[in-house]
Amino acid sequence: AVELSLRPRYLAEYIGQTKVKENLKIYIEAAKMRKEALDHVLLYGPPGLGKTTLSNIIANELGVHLRTTSGPAIERPGDLAALLTNLQEGDVLFIDEIHRLHRTVEEVLYPAMEDFALDIMIGKGPSARSVRLDLPPFTLIGATTRAGLLSAPLRDRFGVVSRLEFYTVDELAFIVARASEILNVSIVGEAASEIAMRSRGTPRIANRLLKRVRDFAQVRGDGVITHDIARSALELLQVDPMGLDSIDHKMLHAMMTTFAGRPVGLDTIAATIGEESQTIEDVYEPYLMQIGFLQRTPRGRTATESAYRHLGLPMPGR
Ligand code: ADE
Repeated sequence: AVELSLRPRYLAEYIGQTKVKENLKIYIEAAKMRKEALDHVLLYGPPGLGKTTLSNIIANELGVHLRTTSGPAIERPGDLAALLTNLQEGDVLFIDEIHRLHRTVEEVLYPAMEDFALDIMIGKGPSARSVRLDLPPFTLIGATTRAGLLSAPLRDRFGVVSRLEFYTVDELAFIVARASEILNVSIVGEAASEIAMRSRGTPRIANRLLKRVRDFAQVRGDGVITHDIARSALELLQVDPMGLDSIDHKMLHAMMTTFAGRPVGLDTIAATIGEESQTIEDVYEPYLMQIGFLQRTPRGRTATESAYRHLGLPMPGR
């Protein structure tokens, strides 16, 4: 229950993503005034920035039900039809990882989004015909780590497209302080900032680190999260002062030594360190690029001078 309640339930409790929040607030209010379903919303950005949380909030603010599913979970058109026909007027259907929808399922979604209609084929062969079934007006919220992976016809059917950004350290420190209060643990301001600085712009990571640091404070201290406790706990968790973990380090290290600073392809990096290319691209690279440690060039990825400095390695050719 605590796990769930760490997530804000209303826009007013939600910290960060100011622009997205301001816009959504207006669209939600306007839809409510018109007594219409909110336009379909696409949320995209790196994992852990609040796509699921925001869709819960949108449904709460609208005062409607939320149905949650994911792209790969909808195996057949009939699975989607079942979900759609069970919606009530104005409800929100949340499809996580919407870029992983099967093509055949996606085609059912187009008329559903555009006309609130379901085209069903009845029979087979020459006598087959299609009947159109009306659906209640609803809001589709799609979430994806990369909007570029969506087909153009699907992307074009979202009236609201919002990109979630990495959070600032100050925002994350607020989130950590708020979570500490909910978890009923005392934390000093410097410790909240320390956790925030090492959370790679991501609330999900901040809350996870907070829980692990709380364990240390309980066992090694008197339960209060002091700055010292936070620092030593984070050290033991192998989260460096920039928030980089062992996978970031392996990645950068391989690029700097094994490949001697030459541009490297994503799949080559992945194979070298034994990680999935997709994970590196969705989870690791966006933050490394955000902090200016990694560059993507047409010939491959390279580490920047700041990355060499951070790892204490000499830059080749300097
Ligand atoms: N917990 C996780 N993300 C949050 C956010 N954006 N605001 C407040 N609490 C959060």
